[in-house]
Amino acid sequence: MTDWTGKRIIITGAASGIGASTAQILTAAGARVYSLDRNEPTVEVTGHIAVDLADEASIDSAVEQLDGEFDALLNVAGVPGTAPAEVVFSVNSLAVRHLTEALMGRLVSGASIVVVSSTAGFGWPSRLDAIKEVLATETFGEGLQWFKENPQEGNAYNFSKEVSTVYTMMMGLGLAGQGLRINAILPGPVDTPILSDFEQTMGKDTLDGVRDLVGRHAVPIDIARAIVFLASEEAGWINGHALAVDGGISGALATDLFPQPEI
Ligand SMILES: NC(=O)c1ccc[n+]([C@@H]2O[C@H](COP(=O)([O-])OP(=O)(O)OC[C@H]3O[C@@H](n4cnc5c(N)ncnc54)[C@H](O)[C@@H]3O)[C@@H](O)[C@H]2O)c1
Repeated sequence: MTDWTGKRIIITGAASGIGASTAQILTAAGARVYSLDRNEPTVEVTGHIAVDLADEASIDSAVEQLDGEFDALLNVAGVPGTAPAEVVFSVNSLAVRHLTEALMGRLVSGASIVVVSSTAGFGWPSRLDAIKEVLATETFGEGLQWFKENPQEGNAYNFSKEVSTVYTMMMGLGLAGQGLRINAILPGPVDTPILSDFEQTMGKDTLDGVRDLVGRHAVPIDIARAIVFLASEEAGWINGHALAVDGGISGALATDLFPQPEI
């Protein structure tokens, strides 16, 4: 079993919800957790750096303030579709790529990157060409420019999560050559502060319908445990994978047991 003692882990979004729960598990297991969030965490961490993940310069400044090498980078932070579309795309897609690539050279061999995407990104196969186009941009600024010039159908949140899922799947093989792994977690609805925003954008009836099918909404630790697993040595041969952590709903929808929700 992975010994987390002294392992150095960066977690974005550690100030709330899933990120805070992940920080708690890893701190309790002896890891040194470094929080990157716009808000101060209320759970115990080794260090905290205030960052605005919607702002490339703020991410670069946070990276400069981090010393040494790391054993995992857990990209958990995210904003719901009630925020302005460009902020949603910046935080949920461009910041994930920018931070991951800025820190890649400082991850030790065997390190793991986890991206918290969403089951809301289930539509990625039908938008793969557009997603590859935006991922072919080289910088945060170019990616944002592409997003402004190529309006996407539906809520920006869904597209942002499609992009982060595909980014993860496309990076796995290349990172394996550097001794690294990257995987995505796709939560279904989780009882955290942003759930009420999702009720506004995706429809309360839709989310209640999902909850009724599965029996309950997830709680943060349901997702945090899966993040810690993917970051651990036990997941050593899992790479470039998008793992739904949703109590079974994705499997049922993919096999047409229920119609895909309109979100
Ligand atoms: N809650 C759900 O139902 C659900 C479902 C699927 C996926 N997710 C994803 O899980 C992740 C965690 O969400 P959560 O449910 O814990 O929500 P949350 O609101 O509890 O936590 C989000 C964290 O991200 C941080 N953050 C947001 N914007 C930021 C910015 N610009 N700069 C720095 N930090 C910023 C917040 O301060 C907060 O600490 C997100 O990526 C979200 O999209 C959540």
